[in-house]
Amino acid sequence: MTDTTNKTSKGSTTGAGAPAPSDRNSLTVGPDGPILLHDVHFLEQMAHFNREKVPERQPHAKGAGAFGTFETTADVSAYTKAALFQKGCTTEMLARFSTVAGESGSPDTWRDVRGFSLKFYTDEGNYDLVGNNTPVFFVRDPMKFPHFIRSQKRLPDTGLRDNNMQWDFWTHNPETAHQVTYLMGVRGLPRTWRHMNGYGSHTYMWINAQGEKFWVKYHFHTHQGMEYFNNDEAKEMAGSDADYHRRDLFESIAKGEHPSWTLSVQIMPYDEAKSYRFNPFDLTKTWSHKDYPLIEVGKMTLNRNPENFFAQIEQAAFSPGNTVPGIGLSPDKMLLGRAFAYNDAQRNRIGTNFHQLPVNKPKNPVNTYMFDGQMTYEHSGNQPVYVPNSYGRSYADNTGTMEDGWESDGDMVRSAYTLHAEDDDFSQPGALVRDVFSDDQRSQLVETVAGSLLGGVRSPVLERAFEYWKSVDPEVGQRIEDKVRAGQAPEPAAGMGEA
Ligand code: HEM
Repeated sequence: MTDTTNKTSKGSTTGAGAPAPSDRNSLTVGPDGPILLHDVHFLEQMAHFNREKVPERQPHAKGAGAFGTFETTADVSAYTKAALFQKGCTTEMLARFSTVAGESGSPDTWRDVRGFSLKFYTDEGNYDLVGNNTPVFFVRDPMKFPHFIRSQKRLPDTGLRDNNMQWDFWTHNPETAHQVTYLMGVRGLPRTWRHMNGYGSHTYMWINAQGEKFWVKYHFHTHQGMEYFNNDEAKEMAGSDADYHRRDLFESIAKGEHPSWTLSVQIMPYDEAKSYRFNPFDLTKTWSHKDYPLIEVGKMTLNRNPENFFAQIEQAAFSPGNTVPGIGLSPDKMLLGRAFAYNDAQRNRIGTNFHQLPVNKPKNPVNTYMFDGQMTYEHSGNQPVYVPNSYGRSYADNTGTMEDGWESDGDMVRSAYTLHAEDDDFSQPGALVRDVFSDDQRSQLVETVAGSLLGGVRSPVLERAFEYWKSVDPEVGQRIEDKVRAGQAPEPAAGMGEA
């Protein structure tokens, strides 16, 4: 029987804007007859439905975000001329938080590093800072990144996550030890996204109005306090509310509880990079706060939920390559690899003209020679599409030394970084375990690692994992080995690939 409800509503339209005939009944020959091919509205609905998902992000697929503001409260003009970091400037922004390894429907509270992506809609173009809730990363050469991510995802045959594969990668790449220590520690299970710090992680360049250059690291400290789940709480939450972090952020903002963070930076004078005791461009290292103390810059507040998750969060496109005048990249090889990777992923994931979507579009006028392509919306009318031209359309023509560049010379090589005086893979994670973790946090680390290793890690990976942890800290390593050998560890931590 034909549905006759809702007759009083104003109805909907087709994609072409004409009144739609019905969103509830398809067009058939009689009530029981076949559906007609010329039911254009029905076919349009079906065809669009078949295309309504875009590929999920390769890493960092599960996440959510909100809009807000960044206010620069301190004078850091001695270090950067970037308009957004001039005292008193308030900039609209977008933040997206995420897990790394899980797919778009995976539980928010599986143990993982959390993404901390920020887009600042400045007057001089969009500035993106795409970081994590930890100050370091697993590897220091971008060639290793796809291998790292695959090792955290799923086995090719069973499609299952696999602890053995994860530890195989980590133990073959000892530079992972610092980030793995963070991951297996409390930061692997933040209670909510509001209760975690964020870091730019890489070293970036700042340039002041006089053209002087500095190296900079970004730290966002939460005003909500750092809070964590323990393994049991996280596991229970993964089952009872897989979207807990997404829900928490949305509901907090909806209630008017606007989370905020203070941005501070560490600044290294340009010339000190050469002789600093750690290679300052090695992403597996931190800079000592005693050597380079925190300098406060301003405050970020998230105060507006998205109106549409797909349009404003799923289609949001962040890229570490999006810098603005006064901010540059650095010789960090990971950062240089990322400067290419993100926009390329987005051309594939969202479409060639992803930058024209409202959430990605700069607030200032754009004059780009990127031309045509699928879904072109913004265009330059009948303006010349080439440079130079005789018809007045402006174009960029900088030559000579770039103000955000650095000197580099030498043969082309494939090589690890040059080591600085104190560079090794285990000193900093060892100091983290011994000097920063409390007794209780060290015990939790032992439990978590042993639980993960008992979750299917086999010889020879297992023996390598014991050596890896003994290199981080002999005592912690021995406790992990004893626990595993005794087989007394609790169940593996949720999300570490319980194959
Ligand atoms: C060479 C190393 C890396 C490569 C090639 C890489 C590549 C990618 C790609 C392709 C995406 C998906 C982008 C999209 O589809 O929109 C992504 C997302 C992300 N990556 Fe990386 N990544 C690297 C290292 C890092 C590091 C070191 C960090 C943090 C310090 C990081 C943080 C993130 C975050 C937070 C996201 C989610 C962005 C969002 O919220 O949309 N990645 N990465």
